[in-house]
Amino acid sequence: MTELAPGRSLVIWGCGGHGRVVLDAARAGARFDRIAFCDDDETAEGRDICGAEVLRGGIEAAAARGFSRFVVAVGRNDLRRRCWERALRSGLRAETCLHPTAWVSSFAAVGTGSVVLAGAIVQTGAVVGDDVIVNTAAVIEHDVRIEDHAHVSPGAVLGGGVAVGSGSHVGAGAVILPGVRVGNGSIVGAGAVVREDVPGGVTVVGVPARIPRTRS
Ligand SMILES: CC(C)(COP(=O)(O)OP(=O)(O)OC[C@H]1O[C@@H](n2cnc3c(N)ncnc32)[C@H](O)[C@@H]1OP(=O)(O)O)[C@@H](O)C(=O)NCCC(=O)NCCS
Repeated sequence: MTELAPGRSLVIWGCGGHGRVVLDAARAGARFDRIAFCDDDETAEGRDICGAEVLRGGIEAAAARGFSRFVVAVGRNDLRRRCWERALRSGLRAETCLHPTAWVSSFAAVGTGSVVLAGAIVQTGAVVGDDVIVNTAAVIEHDVRIEDHAHVSPGAVLGGGVAVGSGSHVGAGAVILPGVRVGNGSIVGAGAVVREDVPGGVTVVGVPARIPRTRS
């Protein structure tokens, strides 16, 4: 985790599979002495998940109980964005979570509330926005730009100078060739190889990546 002092407390919004991954990343950083979950699923409240309590009362209750930081661990970009906005309104500060096995160049920037998970690489000159997921073993090459609320899935490779728009999702194992631009709110399917710019608001799949016929 970045810029942490002893005694900080973190609430992770979302106690599903991705939430447990983020919990591991936060613990591996070993700088928080108190980590808990909150979740919109009230049936999860009060449960112990991997040794972390799911707080009752949602993010506002977490703020009232003295938690200082949050990170949203929800894979779906639109939902994560809504949680992010609500958490900021609750008065908590967004935490940037870097797994200790992730490599982030000192000449790269990672925004607040973003997570860079185990084995991921963010190379020099890359700029990662706020509330972004750089998932397990993703490769973000030099000078890539990823806008807020995007998600780069496990094993995806973004070549040098790629641009990924706000709220876009790059699927697992996809490859985006250097310099290609993906518009806001688009989806790149798992395993796709993207050779040409992708407009906003579309889904592309395949090698080379194309909009599926059923959608055009
Ligand atoms: C691209 C994607 C979003 C499409 O999902 P969907 O909207 O439910 O689409 P469908 O499953 O109805 O598929 C639509 C068409 O695209 C094809 N298709 C879907 N995903 C594909 C992929 N990754 N590669 C190639 N073709 C794909 C389907 O075969 C189908 O083709 P058809 O119309 O000729 O039968 C999804 O398949 C995907 O790849 N998501 C990425 C998931 C991921 O990586 N998650 C990581 C989380 S950590």
